[in-house]
Amino acid sequence: MLPFNLKAKINFFKFLTIKLPKSDIYPHYILPEKFSRHDIMELWKIYAKKVKYRQIYKNLGIFIKIPFCQSKCFYCQCFSKIERNPLIIDRYVDYICKELESYASIMKGIKIDSLYFGGGTPSILTISQIRRIFNTFYNNFKLEVDSQINFEATPHSLDEEKIKVLKELGVNRLTLGVQSLDEKVLDINSRNLQTGKMVKEIVALIKKYKIDSLNIDLIGGLYGQSYQSFMDSLKKVIALNPEVLHIYPFSAAEETLFSKSGKKLSAKDLKLRRSMIEAGNKLILKSGYKEIKNDSYGKAEKGRNKQEADSAEVNASILALGDRALGHIFEELIYMVEESKGKKYAQGVKIDLEDEITKYLLNNLRNTINLDELFRVFPSYTLKDLKKKLGYLLLFKKIIWQGNNMISRIKSRREQLVYGKFLYKKSYLEKLFKFCKNEFDPNLDYSKKLDYLIDETQ
Ligand SMILES: C[S@@+](CC[C@H](N)C(=O)[O-])C[C@H]1O[C@@H](n2cnc3c(N)ncnc32)[C@H](O)[C@@H]1O
Ligand code: SF4
Repeated sequence: MLPFNLKAKINFFKFLTIKLPKSDIYPHYILPEKFSRHDIMELWKIYAKKVKYRQIYKNLGIFIKIPFCQSKCFYCQCFSKIERNPLIIDRYVDYICKELESYASIMKGIKIDSLYFGGGTPSILTISQIRRIFNTFYNNFKLEVDSQINFEATPHSLDEEKIKVLKELGVNRLTLGVQSLDEKVLDINSRNLQTGKMVKEIVALIKKYKIDSLNIDLIGGLYGQSYQSFMDSLKKVIALNPEVLHIYPFSAAEETLFSKSGKKLSAKDLKLRRSMIEAGNKLILKSGYKEIKNDSYGKAEKGRNKQEADSAEVNASILALGDRALGHIFEELIYMVEESKGKKYAQGVKIDLEDEITKYLLNNLRNTINLDELFRVFPSYTLKDLKKKLGYLLLFKKIIWQGNNMISRIKSRREQLVYGKFLYKKSYLEKLFKFCKNEFDPNLDYSKKLDYLIDETQ
């Protein structure tokens, strides 16, 4: 039982924010259940049936994870492994193709809104491997008219022929990880296959073959990076004129080699990183970019990551293919595919309509939510249900009504994470409480610890 008054409850929510994974996906993978490949397919069949009989909103993306890299960067928090054996990569491509074929009959007649190749590094695949995956996809699935195909790449694994083939195969958004243009910084971070000259040439080729949107990723606060070095890289990248620009603050997540080697970000590092991000964002805005909803800075909304935006804005379902790919079956399951010793299975959490609404509200907690849009995605939900769910947030005036819109007054990430927990299902909060009640000390004020954590990892 959650025996708290309001103040104690908020303190518990602060504790939970510290305890739970930092990317506040709901519901969290605490006490996940195991699902066989057969279980997952059965749940997708339920989804397909509901879509066919128009009982749920359809939006569907496919996420293909290529978890291989040529080397492991010191700062990287993504799941990936170094793989140089072409036979192993080839076998993995076979596995992805077979997965696509297996799902084809289940998804028959359902068009795909987004196809995302994420990493690791999809661009380390050879042209023939890339063609094999795309051919299997096109032989088995159909795309919606305004669909997006995104492909993640490093400059050092692309060349003219590959870019030409990606364009020919329908890639209309390319995400290029640049991170920094300072070769000394790249070297310290074990990313020494990339040079500034190479980045310039690759960007020129992406433009030559007219891939609709180029997104470039940079990181601020990298190990060994000075303010000057970061700003120089950013200026050079702006001059390359990508459609979208992401600046990620370096996150010293425990998965990084940085953290594994015992390094930590000091208060000075955090201050420096904050100054880079603030100055960087200002410069981007002055250079003809604007903030784009549920993404980063772009020349136009068209360039944003559609799969991510659809997930946040219409609770898109995601068919996850490949090791550690994250999937979502509307009203059924959130899951992560795991390949263990050749035996494939997934870990996941069952979800229902209430969880979908919670996810939707959490994702949009700092945006204005239009009620027509909300009820388009959740037609069976009522205004009465919604008002009841928003209870405390309305009481604290964190959300106010204005005509048909819900206006958010939640300004910071910290507030979003803490107050968002008022939206969690009661049964789910009870489960979390039970799970960590031995660690939670109601006499401790978790504010300071939380501020530090948010500062450190954001
Ligand atoms: C899946 S990764 C891989 C992309 C591609 N393999 C590359 O290296 O360019 C996607 C992005 O996550 C970002 N990233 C990785 N580790 C990070 C960290 N520790 N902190 C912040 N951003 C990180 C990088 O900007 C990277 O481009
Ligand atoms: S940043 Fe990209 S290339 Fe480097 S280890 Fe991570 S996924 Fe691999």
